[in-house]
Amino acid sequence: MRGCFITFEGVEGAGKTTHVRLLAEWLRQQHLGVVESREPDGTPLGEAILSIFHIEGVAISPLTELFLFEAARHQHLTELIEPALARGQVVLCDRFADSTLAYQGYGRGLDLEEVDKLNHWATLGMRPDLTILLDLEIPAAFERIRGRPLDRFEQAGLEFHERVRKGYLEIAAREPGRILPLAADRPVEAVQAEIRDRVMRLLHTRGIRS
Ligand code: TMP
Repeated sequence: MRGCFITFEGVEGAGKTTHVRLLAEWLRQQHLGVVESREPDGTPLGEAILSIFHIEGVAISPLTELFLFEAARHQHLTELIEPALARGQVVLCDRFADSTLAYQGYGRGLDLEEVDKLNHWATLGMRPDLTILLDLEIPAAFERIRGRPLDRFEQAGLEFHERVRKGYLEIAAREPGRILPLAADRPVEAVQAEIRDRVMRLLHTRGIRS
């Protein structure tokens, strides 16, 4: 039986990493096969691509940025995600195609339809079964990431991140069946409980769990 593909989205500081880890632990306690991954650095090639973003003083145009993320995504899909789903595993992924639409589309201002098309090409039309959108107001998000070294996206400023957040909310409104938006300014346990509830229903529907 084919597995299940669940992605986590949201602005920096929203708690994606924490919730992926907690959900993975809980699913493993129920003896389900789980693979945790992340974009863009879920494969060795993706790690190399991420390191390009970290080279100081290197200018990267928005379109180049888009191609780099899509290259990492296609590799990730073929090398890790698809094989895991074919083995019947539950794949939890920290960021996927919605990140590109939110950051490079809404954030950088690239044409949304073009970004959509490229996403479709890179993912071979494969979409997550469920996407958890952890929504957090930008001032609160900035407060959470204060003190840690900031990457090129985190340095992009308040207006950029406001556009990214608004983008995420618009994407979620367009696809209510796939995307579950959750207010992330609450205790971790409360948010995680809602995630588990929704995931459990999905696994039942899929016959992965009785
Ligand atoms: P993070 O997932 O650790 O927050 O860092 C990844 C950064 O890369 C984050 O700032 C968002 C950015 N990003 C994009 O701009 N587009 C993408 O498609 C992906 C996957 C990430």
